[in-house]
Amino acid sequence: MDKTKRKAIIAGNWKMNKTPSEAKALLEAVVPAVKDADCEVIACVPFVDLSVALETTKGSNVKIGAENCHWAESGAFTGEISALMLKEMGVEYVVLGHSERRQYFGETDETVNKRTKAALAAGLKPIVCVGELLWERECDITEEVIARQIKLDLFNVTADELKNIVIAYEPVWAIGTGKTASPEQAQEIHAFIRSIVANKYGKEIADNTSILYGGSCKPSNAKELFANPDVDGGLIGGAALKVADFKGIIDAFIFSSPSRIAATLISMCRSGDIFIHTGITLAETLLSFILVLTAGILLAILLWASDTVSGILEPYLVILNSLPKSALAPVLIVWLGNNPKTIIVTAISIA
Ligand code: 13P
Repeated sequence: MDKTKRKAIIAGNWKMNKTPSEAKALLEAVVPAVKDADCEVIACVPFVDLSVALETTKGSNVKIGAENCHWAESGAFTGEISALMLKEMGVEYVVLGHSERRQYFGETDETVNKRTKAALAAGLKPIVCVGELLWERECDITEEVIARQIKLDLFNVTADELKNIVIAYEPVWAIGTGKTASPEQAQEIHAFIRSIVANKYGKEIADNTSILYGGSCKPSNAKELFANPDVDGGLIGGAALKVADFKGIIDAFIFSSPSRIAATLISMCRSGDIFIHTGITLAETLLSFILVLTAGILLAILLWASDTVSGILEPYLVILNSLPKSALAPVLIVWLGNNPKTIIVTAISIA
């Protein structure tokens, strides 16, 4: 399946960073910087920042997510936050099963599954994280680990519910370490994850599931990672805290493949971000039109005449060649507006 048909996502996971005032300042800078992104942009922020984050991103293309939620609707769970609480605030996404929660807070596949079910029931979209530890990779059991996590974390999740789930592959050894999975390593596991989802839910659903890569993703390595056929975007930690880096990753994503560039152009045309300039005056346009029409008539005569009198071709070819090229060349320039994506995409000359 052409991956441009899947939802493309760049999500920031802020982790335990940014106070509410800092969150406001960061998002005030992120919103205009990513307004042209041709992918879903999400900021997953600490609970205490959610309110200001929702307010600051209102009316923009930046969606807000939380970093965890509890599985119960309410009750005696001191310090916890329920999915319903998040939903009522206007939160759309929630990160679940992040390796830092598994590593430091006793999260298990069973609790990830319970949280996932609760989030779905509340109408949130879970970003379910999976990934192997370094020693698991070294023991060559990466696929077993990932298969187990996917199967258990998505236990009892229906095919219909899966449509609202995003999967994030985050090799634990690549998180915050500066070590990134190579594009080949990322593709291998992303394709493997898609095959597991296909086994359980069928190919069509697997083909429509977005799978993000996370782990030391930065503008310099993003393009190669995102160019992979099964990598549908990224879950970004440290780089999501710097506007330039976050934007750099989004731009790398847009230009990661010719089909992605084409998809971006089409969507920008649709949203009116691209203006089509003919680059010629009305009189020149009319003159071009008349000349093109004349050339068409001459061509028709030529085709007819060529069957009967071959010698008759000569004078018409002379006339065609003598037509002023500039008059036959309305140049179409697709100009991508006054933003950093400005590129002159093409100049098509009819002559
Ligand atoms: P880094 O991008 O800082 O490595 O973190 C990745 C991550 O954990 C995103 O959830």
